[in-house]
Amino acid sequence: MPLMEWDDKLSVGVMQIDNEHKQLIKMVNELHDAIRANHGKEVLGKVLDGLIAYTGAHFGHEESEMKRTAYPQASSHVAEHQALVKKVLEIHASYKAGKHAVLGMETLAFLRDWLVKHIKGTDMALGAYLKAHAQKKVA
Ligand SMILES: [Fe+2]
Ligand SMILES: [Fe+2]
Repeated sequence: MPLMEWDDKLSVGVMQIDNEHKQLIKMVNELHDAIRANHGKEVLGKVLDGLIAYTGAHFGHEESEMKRTAYPQASSHVAEHQALVKKVLEIHASYKAGKHAVLGMETLAFLRDWLVKHIKGTDMALGAYLKAHAQKKVA
């Protein structure tokens, strides 16, 4: 069973953001699979690198949307992104320093819980704002 599954409760109502969240969930599941399959540190390192790169691109996309639409809650949203990036880079650094146990269930559960909470709260509010913003432009 995958660690996480997409369901409609995670939809923020903006297709591109939803698609990126689906991809993030897929990548967290791939990391989970790689850990469970006891893949070597080279494979695990690559999966983690991919997840970090994709997370950065996704956060960048949300943040450029916030800028473009003058989103009033941008600073607290960006602060959540930055806290996650900092935490993941710490995990990455520990892993690279040879502490391979850092990639275990505790880290996976943290990533899963962070994603669900952030998507359902912080990203949901952004999605609603972006939708309203788009409708205003059309009207
Ligand atoms: Fe976000
Ligand atoms: Fe997001």
